[in-house]
Order: sequence, then C-alpha cells, then structure tokens
Amino acid sequence: MARAAGQLMKRVLMVPPQHFTVTYAINPWMGGTVDKTKAFKQWNELKNAIEDEGVEVLTLDQVSTLPDMVFVCNSGLVHKDKVYLSRFAHKERSGEQEHYLKWFKANGFKTLGEDYPERFEGGGDAVFSDPNTLWAGYGARSSEKVYGKVQSLGDFEVVRCELVGDKFYHLDTCFAPLDEKAALWYPPAFSKATQDEILRRLPNSIAVSDEEAKAFVCNAITVRKAVLSPIGVADKTKATLAERGFKVVEVDMSEFMKSGGACQCLVLRL
Ligand code: ARG
Repeated sequence: MARAAGQLMKRVLMVPPQHFTVTYAINPWMGGTVDKTKAFKQWNELKNAIEDEGVEVLTLDQVSTLPDMVFVCNSGLVHKDKVYLSRFAHKERSGEQEHYLKWFKANGFKTLGEDYPERFEGGGDAVFSDPNTLWAGYGARSSEKVYGKVQSLGDFEVVRCELVGDKFYHLDTCFAPLDEKAALWYPPAFSKATQDEILRRLPNSIAVSDEEAKAFVCNAITVRKAVLSPIGVADKTKATLAERGFKVVEVDMSEFMKSGGACQCLVLRL
C-alpha cells in the first residue's frame, strides 16, 4: 500500500514570526492588527505540536520587509532532493523568492522553476497524498499550466483541482489529505468536475461545514495519525476522524487568520 499523507512528514521548514504584520490585503481574509506576542505563542504551540509527533523542524529567519514570509509553505514544492520554486501571483510577496532560493541551495536542494514565468505558490496549492499522487490546485494563485513543468520533479500523477471563488484561494485552505482514500475538504471551494474527481479518488473524504471552512479547519497538517488544525473542528468531524483512528490537535491560529493563513500555511514539508 502507498504511504499516506501523514507518513510523508519527516522534516519541515518554518519561519518564526519576527516581522509578521498585516500591511496589505491580497486575499479576502486580510485585515486587523496582529498581536505579536500572541502570534509568537501560537507559532510556538504549532511548532511544539509538530515536534511532539516526531517531526524535525528547521527554521529560516524572516526578512523584516516581507510580512507574509511566515507562510513558508508557499516557497515551493519539495520532492525528495528537488524543489520546484514558487512564482508569486502578487508583487507584495515576490520579494520572498530570492530568500527561499538561497535557503534551498544552501541546504542541498536541486532547484527547478527559476526561469519559468507561470504563477505557482508551492505547497499552498500542491500537496502529495502519497508519493505517487500530487493534488494540484489552480485558480486564484497558481496557473493550471505550471503543473506540466512541476511534473518534471519526478514520477507521480498530477491531479489538477480547479478552485472557484476568492475565499478559498489556495488548495490548502479547503483540502487536507488524510490517507489513500480520504481528505478533509470543503466541496463548494471546487468546480463540479473537481468535486467529482476528488470523490472518485478519495471516496471516504470528510466534508466540513461552512462554519468549519471559515475557521480554516481544512488548513490542517496530517502527521501520522494526528490532524493539527486551527480551533473550530466540529464534534461531528472529530467523531468521524476518531472512527478512522485520527486524533485532532487544535491550535489557536487567530493572529495568522488575520492574514488568511493557519497551520498548513506556516509549514513547508521537506
Ligand atoms: N497573506 C498570505 C497570502 O495571501 C497568506 C498565505 C497563506 N498560505 C497558504 N498556504 N494558504 O499570500
């Protein structure tokens, strides 16, 4: 059997929120004043929860002029010793690219995507459910076309997922793979054709309510049998996850939600 999403996580990269603020709005959730102390506390809680599951956390310093750099998940898509680098849709985040490139090179990754113009926001839109299957979101941020090139990372199948609307602007805001047959997801964020495809391939998927989706419950990370999610998972969802052998660890992400991000966005799987 293929290894499931939670088994793939061994080492991750995170960026401590030294300079995290909300100074512009490039998604509909952005606004409000960040409580820096609280943000640090929440970020550390998430880091501890990841380490408690036996995953190694590496860190990269945030550049003071790049407030969204904490969302390092958008730096690229890692596959073994290679990374396909991101190309941000918004100029507000483009400055992050050179710093990620430097880190990937210094840490021994072969880098792809440097010379390609297509928009791509890395792990925010592209996630492996097992080593053979890449879920590839496109719409607001990543272009559908880029996945023809992302494919050059290795031998795996790419399932293109069309995101509709502006609220669930990255795949990881509405889809978190759990195992070979299931994801935690919010169906209205996808086109009808993509909804059908997700259900065909992942028939045991768990659909969340509007309220859970708004709480960014799908912006969860599966580490082995733990689902690390922002606060707001309904009892019904928790019960269904428990039946499948998953425990839920909820982490308060209120400060990062002011920028339209939460657990998954803060973590890049290496
Ligand atoms: N403010 C950031 C942006 O709009 C949030 C990124 C969240 N990242 C994610 N993987 N969903 O780009």
